Amino acid sequence: MAATNLMKPLASLSRFGSLQTRSVSLKAANIPIAKYGGRHTVTMMPGDGIGPEMMGYVKEVFRYAGAPIDFETVLLDPTTDNYDDLYNAISSVKRNGVGIKGNIETKMNRPDIKSRNVEMRNELDLFVNTIHCKSQPGVKTRHDDIDIVIMRQNTEGEYAMLEHESVQGVVESLKITTEPSTERLCRHAFDYARANGRKKVTLIHKANIMKITDGLFLEVAKRVSKDYPEIQHDNMIIDNCCMQLVSNPWQFDVMILTNLYGTIVTNLICGLIGGPGVIAGANIGPRYAVFEPGTRNTGTTLIGKNKANPCAMLNASADMLSHLNLRYHAKLIHDAVWQTINVDMIQTEDLGGQATSMDVVQNVISHIKAAAK
Ligand code: NAI
Repeated sequence: MAATNLMKPLASLSRFGSLQTRSVSLKAANIPIAKYGGRHTVTMMPGDGIGPEMMGYVKEVFRYAGAPIDFETVLLDPTTDNYDDLYNAISSVKRNGVGIKGNIETKMNRPDIKSRNVEMRNELDLFVNTIHCKSQPGVKTRHDDIDIVIMRQNTEGEYAMLEHESVQGVVESLKITTEPSTERLCRHAFDYARANGRKKVTLIHKANIMKITDGLFLEVAKRVSKDYPEIQHDNMIIDNCCMQLVSNPWQFDVMILTNLYGTIVTNLICGLIGGPGVIAGANIGPRYAVFEPGTRNTGTTLIGKNKANPCAMLNASADMLSHLNLRYHAKLIHDAVWQTINVDMIQTEDLGGQATSMDVVQNVISHIKAAAK
């Protein structure tokens, strides 16, 4: 591999340079939402694996809930290096303001091929991935009563996709941390804590080794925390954090993490409370929002088996309705999913039950029908 070619991706660093001019405040956000005749248009990206099945369930549940949503469906092809489909999807979200997605695979394993999921988050400036991990009383796990909110940096850090071979046999990967993006992430976390009565915000880092990148992450959080004196602020090294999470998860309230630590810890916590089938995630930026299951799995081995747990995607769809201020419809669906898992105990195999995906969806619909009478 010629070193000159490998140095090429460094040009894309200008993407981060432009952050200097961006506002760090979400208050000035000008969020576009496509709405015609009282109905919202939302971009639906079914993605791969079980994504298309899950989207079918979302449409069915929305129909019974009477949610005033029209979907603009955009299909993406994971097997090509032509990114026209991705840019169509991004334009669609820019037009509609809001999207819902399954996991989009990138099946070509070439270093110059970028992850479509990551590229979309970057292009839409979805700088925070937020996941509320709350134990389900009907799901038997090792620990009860976990209630943690994760705020993961979603556009920088270890996911910069800037890798190169500096000399033969020596490869490097850049981890990017910028002050403005870290500041808006921290402000988002503290604002969330303040608005939702949360008591503590913990920043997770590895600044003992990555003294400059994680050092900046740590320093910015400390500075921002001073504007929120009523909220306790502490920090923890990622290694210790993982040990503490499995032994004493109740000490955590709101957590701020870099991109890579965030995806690992998200999977860890979702695993603690029932796995990939329950919890929803939201990718939020100053202008756009895209909703998806929290752990972003593809679930390829479950395709067409009627076994995948649809609750994470249904919860993501309800969060999306909430974001659109359709609180009645959001509550209808959230409550129906919660009742199904925790009261009726209609659970798929991943939660220890024997129900099929369709059994769960039918039960959710029966609650919606009863509540809408
Ligand atoms: P996977 O899709 O193989 O899922 C992991 C496990 O969870 C499997 O046992 C699967 O059967 C189960 N599972 C997933 N969704 C489920 C559902 N709705 N109901 C019940 N069980 C469910 O995940 P893996 O190996 O992590 O990733 C597959 C692809 O997803 C890879 O291409 C990866 O790049 C991509 N991906 C994964 C992320 C992650 O956080 N795990 C994040 C982003 C992308």
